[in-house]
Amino acid sequence: MLLPVVERVYRLLHDRLFLRLPEARAVRLGQILLRATPVPFLQIVDVDDPRLAVTLAGVRLPSPVILSSMYYDPRILRRAMVLGFGAVTTKSITVSARPGHPEPNLVRLSTPEGRGFVNCNGFQNPGLPGFRTALQNLPRLRPLIVSVAGESPDEYVRLVEGLEAYADLVEINISSPNTRLVYELSAAPERVRALLGAVRRATTKPLIVKLSPDFPDQNHGAILPALLDTGIDAVNFGNTRRVAEPRLSQGVGGVSGPALFPGVLAEIRALRQTVGPKLGLIATGGIDSSEKALAALEAGADAVAYFSAFVTRGPTLARRIGDALVETLDRRRLQGVADLHAWATERPAV
Ligand SMILES: Cc1cc2nc3c(=O)[nH]c(=O)nc-3n(C[C@H](O)[C@H](O)[C@H](O)COP(=O)(O)O)c2cc1C
Repeated sequence: MLLPVVERVYRLLHDRLFLRLPEARAVRLGQILLRATPVPFLQIVDVDDPRLAVTLAGVRLPSPVILSSMYYDPRILRRAMVLGFGAVTTKSITVSARPGHPEPNLVRLSTPEGRGFVNCNGFQNPGLPGFRTALQNLPRLRPLIVSVAGESPDEYVRLVEGLEAYADLVEINISSPNTRLVYELSAAPERVRALLGAVRRATTKPLIVKLSPDFPDQNHGAILPALLDTGIDAVNFGNTRRVAEPRLSQGVGGVSGPALFPGVLAEIRALRQTVGPKLGLIATGGIDSSEKALAALEAGADAVAYFSAFVTRGPTLARRIGDALVETLDRRRLQGVADLHAWATERPAV
């Protein structure tokens, strides 16, 4: 009963207030409101149906819907853990604290597919020591995916070693377009192989590698074989797509939101065909409805993740996707989310 009320209130806030404020102020206000909302109230959004549970890289997620990398504040991560997500990803953490790029570092983007963003956030985060302290008080109500971004294999290893105790899975970000070094890794596959070998030796935690949609040839030609050879457990496809954007302080940024989705769906299908069941697969980019989440799972993703739709659709989307998936499973007489891909593959063409 309360869910539709929460949704109406959020829609009013989003359409009448957030959209009228400059982006930076809307972000600050949104985060203040989220931090101020009591956890027990947000818990009404949570999901609890065993049919939604999936296994990603050996870790059980209570739902296949993941909050993608963006937040490092433990008060926000804590709240996200009761909003129907099966796992929550942290902001990409760097060895030293970073203030991020100067504002404007986020602008709205209207595309024929719907609303998204272009950002040049530049990894604003408290750095390894500060984040370790912050994580000490974060109750692990849901699996936590800790994302890391270094500037050399050594830095990635330090980050993985320093944060693995807090992580259920570790995500290696080699794909954010906003800092030269991380992005250039995708363009230099031989460095990626050395890096992945080093992080694999550094931890026994399941490792996810987050790929860029800007390097399809490198992804398939060199990075995917390197992932398989070094024993990486899962791929997250993917990150934002780099574009020129004169409104941003850096003149370039990464597109997020629904414009990414067609490419993500095609790539998930291709990846699943190439690797079979060997790698875990997360589909990220433009997922903002239960239909898109279902399409990605049918295409072979083990889980789906989003960030932009957390803002544009509000805090109940993960729950709505969960409810719609359970309905679909009932209708198709399937036991769980993991059966959706086989169902879609074996269905006779009509
Ligand atoms: C403001 C902002 C900050 C982000 N920061 C990170 C980050 O630190 N690490 C990362 O891997 N992805 C980061 N992302 C990318 C998202 O996690 C996600 O991959 C991307 O936005 C595509 O998904 P979406 O269309 O659902 O937003 C960021 C995105 C935005 C908009």
